[in-house]
Amino acid sequence: MRFPSDFQWGVASSSWQNEGCPLSGGGGLSTWDVMAREPGRIRENTPNEFGCDSVRQVAQDIELVRGLGPNTWYRFSFSWPRLMPEGTGRVNAAGRDYYDRLIDGLLAAGVNPFPALFWWDFPQALFLRGGWLNRSVADWFAAYVELVVRHYSDRVQQWVVYEEPNNFITAGLGNGTLAPGLRLPFPDVMRALHHALLAHGRGLQALRAQARTPPFVGWGVGLDGALPATATPADTEAARRQQFAVPAEATPAVGHSPAVWLDPICLGQYPAEFLAHHEEALPAGWAADMSTIHQPLDFVGANAYMGRLVRAGGNGHPENVPFAADHPMSTFRWPITPAAAYWIPRFLYERYRKPIFLTETGVSGADTVGTDGRVHDPHRSDFLARYLAEFARAGVDGVDIRGSFVWTLIDNFEWCAAYEPRFGLVYFDPQTRQRTPKDSYYWYRDFIARARAGSPTPGCNPAGSRGTGP
Ligand code: GCO
Repeated sequence: MRFPSDFQWGVASSSWQNEGCPLSGGGGLSTWDVMAREPGRIRENTPNEFGCDSVRQVAQDIELVRGLGPNTWYRFSFSWPRLMPEGTGRVNAAGRDYYDRLIDGLLAAGVNPFPALFWWDFPQALFLRGGWLNRSVADWFAAYVELVVRHYSDRVQQWVVYEEPNNFITAGLGNGTLAPGLRLPFPDVMRALHHALLAHGRGLQALRAQARTPPFVGWGVGLDGALPATATPADTEAARRQQFAVPAEATPAVGHSPAVWLDPICLGQYPAEFLAHHEEALPAGWAADMSTIHQPLDFVGANAYMGRLVRAGGNGHPENVPFAADHPMSTFRWPITPAAAYWIPRFLYERYRKPIFLTETGVSGADTVGTDGRVHDPHRSDFLARYLAEFARAGVDGVDIRGSFVWTLIDNFEWCAAYEPRFGLVYFDPQTRQRTPKDSYYWYRDFIARARAGSPTPGCNPAGSRGTGP
């Protein structure tokens, strides 16, 4: 089993998680900064002032990515309120310079920058003007994208527009679990969803019009994989159906269907199932927006961490199969399911026929610095070996796989869970702000080198047969 020779190897990070609050750097507050100050929102009310100190330690970040080998890729995101404190108009020069230092430093170190335009940290100033509920968000977002693309596209070619829009709309406005922490009525959530799609359309039009080098653009899609419980055609079809199904009930879960997001932008229409049940929740005149929304992606990024088992029930309908009581779990209580790195890419590729990146995979751990001063995290290398093998297998089976990114470079601020779940290849101590590469960092460096040399990699069965189950 081999990875393609031009496969992109890298690591991922995000602005709010790595940089913390933009205020001290001359930026504005994001909805995350505001929600995080409300008691009871974040684990132990931990403030996120500095993330993992990435603004101050930009040179160290670059050095850590460079250490993974030549020609690797670094995913990060631009913070909208760090660049535009009010969300529109005025630009914060210190914020702009920070991303210049990061991008120039990466390029000088032989690392390819791969930024996302939006990763959840929405400007609070625009939230107060209605945020995603206000149709003007499409204009605001397009103007922001134009600013970013005009300034950085001489050095950046590969972009992500949105990171996990299901989460920032559905969980942020529907379930109240992520910022801004609201539980709005269903039609409001659908209005916000439609406006987010419209903003994507306008934003991507701006990106393609302004880019100074030919852009290659995708999304980071977050989804819980529907994994066939057995390799039979009936279970595979049941899982495929469930992966893209749209719930009939008017609950925020509708916004977690990847089809509700990707069908409009890649295929030009909402899924029929969605319209059949929820058309009346869309804002009046929605159909006239579809041609603007239909700005196809060049690739689809899959954030594949886990999945659930699905089989064909008696009448062929998909039904979930519970995990065994002793199924392996991460410290975050996420089931470890390597097959997610096979089926999620495969189902996305079959439906949208776009190149696929594994834009994120990784695992949390209760990692600590040992008496020898090192961080031993064999569970993480094992996790990555299994998941990467499954992704490679998707490639063998015809999926156009282009690259893989570990979540994440450095332990960072895991949203409402603060610093506790450690996902990094590099350990971060919030007290001293020191970074210590874990064993998995060196393991990943060596894995990349072997994969590039065409040598067998751990977890990949050289005969190409399936090594790991769900
Ligand atoms: C995303 C993810 C990340 C998380 C990671 C671990 O938007 O891509 O939510 O930001 O930190 O998935 O939970």
